[in-house]
Amino acid sequence: MLSIFDEEFAREPWPMLRSLRDGGGVHRVATPDGPPAWLVTRYADVRDGLLDDRLSTNMRYSRGGDYRGFAVPPPLDVFQRSEPEEWGRLRSRVVGELRLSGEWTERAALLVGKTLAELDGVHEFDFVERVALPLPAVIVAELLGLPDAERDALAAWANATLRPDSVPRARDTLATMQQIITAVIAQGLRDGEDTMLGRLVRAEIGSGGADSGDLAGLLFYLLFVFYEVLMDVLAGAVLVFSGRPEQLAEMMSAPERPGPVDELLRFLSPQVLAGPRFAVTDLEIGGQLIEAGQTVLLCLASANHDHERFADPAELDVWRGPNPHVALGHGAHACVGAGLLRPVLASVLTQIYTRWPKLHATIDDRDVPWRSGFRHRGPLTLPVRAEVS
Ligand code: HEM
Repeated sequence: MLSIFDEEFAREPWPMLRSLRDGGGVHRVATPDGPPAWLVTRYADVRDGLLDDRLSTNMRYSRGGDYRGFAVPPPLDVFQRSEPEEWGRLRSRVVGELRLSGEWTERAALLVGKTLAELDGVHEFDFVERVALPLPAVIVAELLGLPDAERDALAAWANATLRPDSVPRARDTLATMQQIITAVIAQGLRDGEDTMLGRLVRAEIGSGGADSGDLAGLLFYLLFVFYEVLMDVLAGAVLVFSGRPEQLAEMMSAPERPGPVDELLRFLSPQVLAGPRFAVTDLEIGGQLIEAGQTVLLCLASANHDHERFADPAELDVWRGPNPHVALGHGAHACVGAGLLRPVLASVLTQIYTRWPKLHATIDDRDVPWRSGFRHRGPLTLPVRAEVS
């Protein structure tokens, strides 16, 4: 069994992933938590796997001693316990809500601008601490329509858990998350139809379905699960552009043109692995037999750097096209936040580089410390210089 998930993998997974693709594509690996799983690395197998209903996200199909992922307690475990129809119903509510209005995007842009303006006159700072860490709270809170108290609680949670020197890991803060979710649901009940939160709460529990469990599970995802990956992509983008000023200039030459955000997502692949899938039945992937109950980890990062699918995958090309990356998943479980992410990331990056055209990391790529988790990747800290001209 291979043991590949170390610090070097978090920082620079590409050589290892290439050798795994070249060496058969599907490998038995040890996870940092101990139990083993199958790691699927080739683009075609990963994409097929994301569409294969013999691979379930429901933990009840897990058998034997394979890796199961972090078991979220009820009622937050809606994703791990739902059958496809139930989850699909919740999903479609949010997808509908996340079709952003131009008005929302403008409001969010204003708030982002306010956060960046707090750094006026500061020329050297840690980009993770001062920008990537606080911004997701601003964006998610604006999205849901959270009042100041809940907005501050979310920011305080992020500050206490996601800084490099934080003692608790996110998974150790479930009680705090639960308290915030309860307060957020109570607020949603007061909001009526005025906010996205109010509409979700109304739709889930206001209409007679007395159980707020599914809603709590959904809010857990919206508020907390994707917080870190948003930080990762923001800090990762600044790191990547620091060494590629010509690509930055390309992006800034046509900020309204789609493409760069998708290429950054492909290139960085901040979510390295899709959530664990459990084999519902015996099946074969890439010539390898997977037994019912075993765990399959579909490696999105590896798929996104597969030479069989992408020309020069190790190059960032902001106008790459077509770009069928799987950084946001694919199929029934594809990222619910995708419609939100693209315009928001584009707007945030444009604002950042309009304010600080020469923003760049002040340490070498190789010296940037990376988060050691194996499912996400992003810089832990990123010292930058941000002189205005
Ligand atoms: C750069 C930021 C993000 C990245 C890279 C990302 C990536 C992904 C990926 C790869 C999946 C599929 C997981 C799988 O197949 O197991 C996913 C699912 C999901 N994403 Fe995102 N995401 C991001 C931000 C967000 C945001 C901001 C939200 C919410 C507003 C969000 C909500 C969700 C939800 C609810 C799911 C579960 C969908 C399902 O299983 O049906 N994501 N995301």
